[in-house]
Amino acid sequence: MKRRNIIIDCDPGIDDIVALSFALANEDKLNILGITTVAGNQTIEKVTTNALKVMSYYNKDIKIAMGQKRPLLREKAAASNVHGENGMGDYQLPEPKIELYSDNAITFLRDTILSSEEKVTLVPVGPLTNIALLIKVFPEVIENIELVSIMGGSTSGGNRTSCAEFNIWADPEAAKIVFDSKLPIVMSGLNVTHSSGLYKEDVEKLAQSTGKVTELCGKMLQYYFKGDHVKEGTFTPIHDACAIMYLLYPELFEFKHMRVDVDCSEELSRGNTIVDVRDWIKYDETYPRVLTNVDTEKFREILLNDLYKLDEMVG
Ligand code: BDR
Ligand code: CA
Repeated sequence: MKRRNIIIDCDPGIDDIVALSFALANEDKLNILGITTVAGNQTIEKVTTNALKVMSYYNKDIKIAMGQKRPLLREKAAASNVHGENGMGDYQLPEPKIELYSDNAITFLRDTILSSEEKVTLVPVGPLTNIALLIKVFPEVIENIELVSIMGGSTSGGNRTSCAEFNIWADPEAAKIVFDSKLPIVMSGLNVTHSSGLYKEDVEKLAQSTGKVTELCGKMLQYYFKGDHVKEGTFTPIHDACAIMYLLYPELFEFKHMRVDVDCSEELSRGNTIVDVRDWIKYDETYPRVLTNVDTEKFREILLNDLYKLDEMVG
């Protein structure tokens, strides 16, 4: 597999940190050009500090650029009930050793994409505010973007509200700009991420580990089991890891090209992704690749294996 250039746009965030760890375990296949942050699971200050802390803890000198502190139009609302006050399920890491590379994620994204010889894949796993601004303000980047692997949305039902998934709900106007852009998009929505994760026993085992990565991920993930968004108390989705998994093991998924609209109304359905699932309507490959099914067992095995692998790599 050719090494793919990626930039991860995230709001760490417990599952964001697991996804970052998973990507770092695969640096032989993924060339991580940078991490950009966006307000979502917590304030921009907290999520950026978390990204800096985690990279410092792993001794990884990856460029981190701070992005938007609020959605395009509406006020910001953090998901502290899901990710805790510090955004890491209350896990405390030492202060960061590495410094912020840039306080402007949009120009960082532009410069990095335009100066890359090979095309760049974007992996947004938070609200789409940075990506929407990027393509509106600097549309010249579009031709050097290979793919946008998004965690967000759903073909049916939501989590933040009964019909809206959190990342889309947090900035629907930005999501609409991105889905309407005609960029090549892969959408990992709740319909697959709810079956992409780990069992409670896996999390308990990770939490008892003495490895840096596995202990951190395990202890943070235990926080999810205090909430009500785990499946029957036995299985937790790791939503954001799906957007990375697709890049590494697309064969684990089924997909269909479908039209995705975003509800930007002020009604109850705000933030809903309206996916045209009618199977008699054929959309060509210019429409988003919407993931429709995942091999849950392989997903779990690969993710666990790679978190333990990163333990060895970071020492
Ligand atoms: C998404 O919302 C956030 O809380 C997670 O980090 C993930 O990106 C799941 O709906
Ligand atoms: Ca996220």
